[in-house]
Amino acid sequence: MSLPLQLVSPPRVGTARRYLMCPPWYFAVSYAINPWMDPTRPIDATLAMKQWTALVDTYRALGHTVELINPEPGLPDMVFAANGATVIDGTVLGVRFRNAERAAEAQHYRNWLLAHSVPDVVIPSAVNEGAGDLMWTGSLLLAGAGFRTEQAAHQEAQEVLGVPVVSLQLVDPRYYHLDTCLLVLDDSPDSPLIAYYPPAFSPGTQRVLTRLFPDAVIASTADAACLGLNGVSDGGSVVLPVEAQNLGRALAARGFEPIFVDVSELRRAGGGPKCCTLAL
Ligand code: ARG
Repeated sequence: MSLPLQLVSPPRVGTARRYLMCPPWYFAVSYAINPWMDPTRPIDATLAMKQWTALVDTYRALGHTVELINPEPGLPDMVFAANGATVIDGTVLGVRFRNAERAAEAQHYRNWLLAHSVPDVVIPSAVNEGAGDLMWTGSLLLAGAGFRTEQAAHQEAQEVLGVPVVSLQLVDPRYYHLDTCLLVLDDSPDSPLIAYYPPAFSPGTQRVLTRLFPDAVIASTADAACLGLNGVSDGGSVVLPVEAQNLGRALAARGFEPIFVDVSELRRAGGGPKCCTLAL
């Protein structure tokens, strides 16, 4: 008897996580700071709330803890909690937004964290948009630059967080934050695994990613174009936009369980499950 050509990996087991999320009470697309946003097309606020609530329910059903921060009127993008901070093993780097429209969110996230037993939230001097661009693999901090977070912030993150930083150059405006084109699937220090969409990165960065993650899951153009990489993995289950069916199959073949959610209304601001979720 011959071995099957494609060996399917054994199922992976996730670990319980603690997430911070922000209800989309004031969610709107009233300005355009990325190519997904079209302020001339009104948002269906009820639908956005329904999709966001289903995401919270999905996390809780998986055994995760979801904490909530109160949204502020006039900050329609505050629902994207991933941009609120970068948290690694209890050390927290605050954020500084590129665009004036989002600047005030930084203080609200900082205040919440300080009020919830985080001893310190370092105020950055360089622009960094939190876990949207600074992604921890368990051993390396992958740091995006090109549209929002500045290169100088990478050095600052390394100093504040005390972790080795790898700078990654983003080149496609549709993939303006690192978490729109790269997904950390496994953050165990000895066997990190990511999925990513190579054309969103400069040629040199693509070579870096190939060297560091030779086993990575390579996403297709269709997976990327629905913001399918904006998913949230607990090491076992991966919560993904429902359109990312190819990616879901690729993850299942690696032993992950894809869990699909509909985030169509949030995508109209350029976001998905991961953007709405800050891992604490
Ligand atoms: N409209 C928001 C912005 O452009 C979307 C942020 C999405 N967040 C993320 N982590 N990718 O800033």
